[in-house]
Amino acid sequence: MDESFVALIFQHEELVLLDQRVLPTSLEYVHCKTYQDVEFAIRDMVVRGAPAIGASAAYGVYLAAKAHEDEPSFLAALTFLGNARPTAVNLAWAIKRMKGVYDQEKKGGRTHLLEALLSEAHEIRSEDICTNKEMSRIGSRVVPQGATILTHCNTGALATAGWGTALGVIKQAHYDGKDIFVYADETRPRLQGARLTAWELVEAKIPSRLIADSAAATLIRDGKIDLVILGGDRVAANGDVANKLGTFSLSVIAKAYGVPFYSVVPVSTIDFAISDGSKIPIEERDASEVTHVGSVQVAPTEIGVYNPAFDVTPHQNITGIITERGIIYPPFGENIERLRRGETL
Ligand code: MRU
Repeated sequence: MDESFVALIFQHEELVLLDQRVLPTSLEYVHCKTYQDVEFAIRDMVVRGAPAIGASAAYGVYLAAKAHEDEPSFLAALTFLGNARPTAVNLAWAIKRMKGVYDQEKKGGRTHLLEALLSEAHEIRSEDICTNKEMSRIGSRVVPQGATILTHCNTGALATAGWGTALGVIKQAHYDGKDIFVYADETRPRLQGARLTAWELVEAKIPSRLIADSAAATLIRDGKIDLVILGGDRVAANGDVANKLGTFSLSVIAKAYGVPFYSVVPVSTIDFAISDGSKIPIEERDASEVTHVGSVQVAPTEIGVYNPAFDVTPHQNITGIITERGIIYPPFGENIERLRRGETL
């Protein structure tokens, strides 16, 4: 059963995005008419989540080609778009794929080029939905009947072009009749769990509870969690996973208490060129995300703030990485190399 809302669609020459800054109290759409609007939407997190950022950027590339007939200005626009957020590799991946189409089709004339770019962006969007469905089918196998699952951040239809990655697996298990129960971390500081995942869980009618991030350790220690399933923003060639801040500490606790820990990512989230997680750029965001909750100030603004948006979970803490081409188990380096060579696991 697909979701009842559309979070990302290109129509009438605009990228229309459900504004994730104001959910769940307001349902508002932002209309991106230019690639600068798309860059802002990614940077300001109107749209967020690695695959959704990638799909949005693809439309941004199309809008950049529409705006700039000359190649140097077009390339500068791609650099501008690519710098919107540094951690999720899907942004660079989508821009590179669109640039490949540009290089191949630019000799065919402007109308042909723009048609080819728009059709590739549509393809990236629809492929992502198919990929998510396939990952969910594969991932549902690791979810035992009656499982209680802990998840972090938002990995659902809002974070992708549709359906979701980790939340896609959870929805699939639910629709397969597995009688699951979900604990969703609120995910400070931006509360993607509270504002977005809780909303998607309610929409999908999945039995669930929202918890403060710090409650997760107690639930795991007390044997109340059967498995942890979450997403990923960039996977290194050795299986280290960068994901929303708080993922690393969950992985340490899950490992200490023998709870299986899965990351769900499309192959486009694997950065084969990065050997290990220490090389993944980690975005640091504005201090106000920590000193304020929404628009309410909760700390003195004079205090210094450290606000990394992501952390890196070492592959040693991960049970498996679920992709559309199978589940990557240890030895991660070897199996990721098999994926790179085009094999299915
Ligand atoms: O800062 P965000 O909200 O873009 O971070 C999103 C996450 O960390 C998700 O877990 C990740 O992108 C996977 S989404 C399918």
